[in-house]
Amino acid sequence: MCYNIRMAGQYQIRGAKLADAEKIFALIHLNRDQLVPRSVGNIVENIDRFLVAVTGSDIVACACYQVHPEIGQPEAATVEIQSVAVRAPYRRKGIGRMLIEAMIEKVSVFNPKEVVVLTFAPEFFGAMGFHEIPKTQIMHKLYTGCVNCTKHTDPFTCPEIAMVHAPRE
Ligand SMILES: CC(C)(COP(=O)(O)OP(=O)(O)OC[C@H]1O[C@@H](n2cnc3c(N)ncnc32)[C@H](O)[C@@H]1OP(=O)(O)O)[C@@H](O)C(=O)NCCC(=O)NCCS
Repeated sequence: MCYNIRMAGQYQIRGAKLADAEKIFALIHLNRDQLVPRSVGNIVENIDRFLVAVTGSDIVACACYQVHPEIGQPEAATVEIQSVAVRAPYRRKGIGRMLIEAMIEKVSVFNPKEVVVLTFAPEFFGAMGFHEIPKTQIMHKLYTGCVNCTKHTDPFTCPEIAMVHAPRE
C-alpha cells in the first residue's frame, strides 16, 4: 500500500524501504526497555507496515501496525500500532505526533473496528486522542504478541497500559 509522503518542516514521514530495515532495528533496540524486540528479518517481512520520519538521510523515528482479526471481527478487525520510537535528541518536536497521525490515516483505509496500543507512554498517546481500556479487551494480543516480550513474566501484571483511539462511528 502506498503512503502519501508528508512534510513538516525539515522532517518527512514516508513508508519504509527495505534499505531502512537495519536503521529501524537499531532504533527499536535503543528503546528496548519500552518496546517488544524485533529481529531484522521480522522488520523486513513487515516493512510495508512501517512508517518512518526522516531528515536528510537520517531515520529519526518509526512506527508499525498489525491487524488483529481475532479482536473484533475479520471484516472490522482491530489494528494495533506498534514499535513507536523517536530518537532521543529529536523528541518533543512533534515528530511522534506526526507519525501517529500519519499511521492512523494509513490504517483508516481498512476501516478497522478500533486502533489500539499497548504502551509505557500513556501521556503521549493520551495527547494523541487515545484513552485507557481494560487489558482483557485485547486478550488475544496478550496471549500472542506478548510471548515475544521477555521484560515481564505475566502480561496481566505487566505495567504496560492498553489504550484505544476514539473510534469513528
Ligand atoms: C513517546 C515518544 C514516541 C514521543 O515522541 P515525541 O516525538 O517526543 O512526541 P511529540 O513531540 O510529538 O509529543 C506530542 C505530545 O505528546 C505528549 N508527550 C510526549 N512525550 C511525553 C512525555 N514523555 N511525557 C508526557 N507527555 C508527553 C505531549 O503532550 C506532547 O506535546 P507537547 O510537546 O506540545 O507537550 C518518544 O518519547 C519515544 O520514542 N519514547 C521511547 C519509546 C516509547 O516509549 N514508545 C512508545 C510506545 S510504548
